[in-house]
Formats: sequence, structure tokens, C-alpha cells
Amino acid sequence: MRIIGLMSGTSLDGVDAALLETDGETIFATGAALTHPFPPALRAALRTLLDRAADLAPDDPFLLETERSLTLHHAEAIRLLGEPADLLGFHGQTILHRPEQKRTWQIGDAQLLARETNTPVAHDFRSADVAAGGQGAPFAPAYHAALAADLEKPVAILNIGGVANITFVQEDGTLLACDTGPGNALLDDFCARHLGEPMDRDGRLAASGKPHEPTLQILLSHPYFANTAPKSLDRQDFAHALELIEALPLPDGAATLVAFTARAILATPLPATPRSLLVTGGGRRNPTLMAALGNATPVESQGWNGDALEAQCFAHLAARVLRGLPLSYPGTTGVPHPMPGGRIAQPN
Ligand SMILES: Nc1ncnc2c1ncn2[C@@H]1O[C@H](COP(=O)(O)OP(=O)(O)O)[C@@H](O)[C@H]1O
Ligand SMILES: [Mg+2]
Repeated sequence: MRIIGLMSGTSLDGVDAALLETDGETIFATGAALTHPFPPALRAALRTLLDRAADLAPDDPFLLETERSLTLHHAEAIRLLGEPADLLGFHGQTILHRPEQKRTWQIGDAQLLARETNTPVAHDFRSADVAAGGQGAPFAPAYHAALAADLEKPVAILNIGGVANITFVQEDGTLLACDTGPGNALLDDFCARHLGEPMDRDGRLAASGKPHEPTLQILLSHPYFANTAPKSLDRQDFAHALELIEALPLPDGAATLVAFTARAILATPLPATPRSLLVTGGGRRNPTLMAALGNATPVESQGWNGDALEAQCFAHLAARVLRGLPLSYPGTTGVPHPMPGGRIAQPN
């Protein structure tokens, strides 16, 4: 099947769309991909929803209006991609992730997207996992494993989006995965607050500063880091870091956040040292962060496209929804058994 995956992560930078030819097990071909950036007004509206999500009613007019704009922005991404598809994989925007309360909330109107694009839409990937007691995240491992099928094991694939997550593929193919800690979101929020910029482009601000060790020690003493996988995070779980670094000079604040992301990744307990640590997501474009990670290589070293990979992942999962195959596993989300999920919205 020709499937277009649509992903908008916690960085709130935009919607990634990517074409994939797959049956949900084998990847036959990757295809065209693009990122359709959020206009500032939509980004701000999503930001507001993130801050208000915990007490938002499902029929809140601002929520419904933003959900509609978000969905139409996805439809536009499909039109811009200009590729026919048999199926879409629509993740939606996570505005709340509280698996311990059996809640994970992705907004997006799959029925509207199906009508707008005249294509069936797989959606609602995470809720069955959370209902069964899983973390509902990360969901990339099934695709990471398919991509890594021919690589030497063990191998680790690290996605640095707003939050960072790692997939560890063991020698027998068993998967272990978790969110490692913050990704880019804290640094993005810091730059928005102090510079009016959406990111620390090319890691320049952080490169000009020094991590503040006492603050780092406080940040890394968070109980999350003592837990073992599977485990997952809400984008805002480390929002307090921004208050902790408020008194530091700006370059040191940025350097501390980069070091926080990198050290949380490196401290993630894995059953063995992977032969390679392959990095995908926007964080691989931050040279200061990549330097702090040491032996990590961008996924481009394998010929993969790190800007499209998470969108391809939801194309792959869409095929698995259609076929009733598991989307998550005990080692990836802590769900008691391999767990199918998702639903299909038809155009008519
Ligand atoms: N040139 C760059 N320099 C530094 N950071 C970058 C660069 N390009 C992208 N990023 C970071 O990557 C983020 C987007 O990553 P992405 O993988 O799309 O995350 P998500 O999946 O959460 O949307 C940006 O918000 C920014 O923090
Ligand atoms: Mg993104």
C-alpha cells in the first residue's frame, strides 16, 4: 500500500508528511516527504491548549476550533505533498499525556481529514494501549525495528523531538523503549521566552555558554531517571527547569538545557551497549547537542531521512491498524501483551 503518515510532535514546529510503501511489516520504499510549518497563530493556539489541557472540556469551543484548523492544516500538507495514497496515518497533536491516569489526548478530526482528502484515515493509535495499562508511548519502535531489520544488533535509535525517545533493538529482535527525558522542547521554550526565536538555531547560543553543574544535578535527580523502561513523559514534565535556570546568563542557561537532554539520554539504562546509536528528529540538527552525545550518528548514515522518519512511522502503523497487527509491546510501552489498536475513518 501507498500510505502517507502525518506526524506533529511536541516541538509544535509543524506537520511532517511522508509517503511510505509498506504492508506494515516490510518497508518496500520510502517516498516524498515534507514539513508543513504551523502558522504562528495555530502554533500559539496549540501552545495555549497544552497549558490548559488538564481542565479542558471535550466540547470547549476554542478546543474544537483549534482542532479544526489543525486538521485542515494536515489536509493542506497532503495537498502540498501531491501524492496519491491508499491510506493516511494521522497521529494528531498530543495536548496531554498522563498514562498513570489512563489518559493520553491527541486532537485532530480524522473524519474531517478523510472527507477533505477523500482517503481512509487510520487514527487514535495510542488509546487502546493506555486503556490496557500501557504508557501509550513511545510508538515509533515498531517502525524503528522494521527499518533496522538488516542492521547489526543490538542497535539503538534515538529520536530527539520535543521529548526524546529511544528504541533499543536486541539481538533476538526484542524491543525495549522509553522516553529518555527532555528533547528540544525546553530549549525551544527558553529561546521563545528570552529571544523571541522558535529555537537555538544550530545550537549557537548553547555553544557559547557552559552548563551549570549544580542546576544539572538538581534536574537529573528527578525520580523519572531512576525508573527503568518502559516509561514515558508529558511535554511539560520538566517545565520547572526553565525556572531553575532563570538566574543564569542566557548562554549558560541554554548550555545547561542541552547538557540536561544529553545526559538524560546517556544515563538511560540499556541492557547492553548498542553497536550504534542512530539519531533522528530535529535535535540531530543541533551540533552542540550532538557533540554532547559523543558517539551518536545521524540516521542519514544509514540512508534514512531523519526529517521524515517519525511521519513514516505513522504510515507504517496505519498499515498495522488496517491489518490488526500489534502497535506496541510489553518492552516498549509496558502493555501486558502485544497490543493492536487504532481506528479507521472512511471518507463517506
Ligand atoms: N538547525 C537547527 N538547530 C537547532 N535545533 C534545530 C534545528 N533544526 C531543528 N531543530 C530542533 O528540532 C525541533 C523540531 O524537531 P522535530 O523532530 O520536528 O520534533 P517534534 O517531533 O517534536 O515535532 C525544533 O523545534 C528545534 O528545536
Ligand atoms: Mg516536528
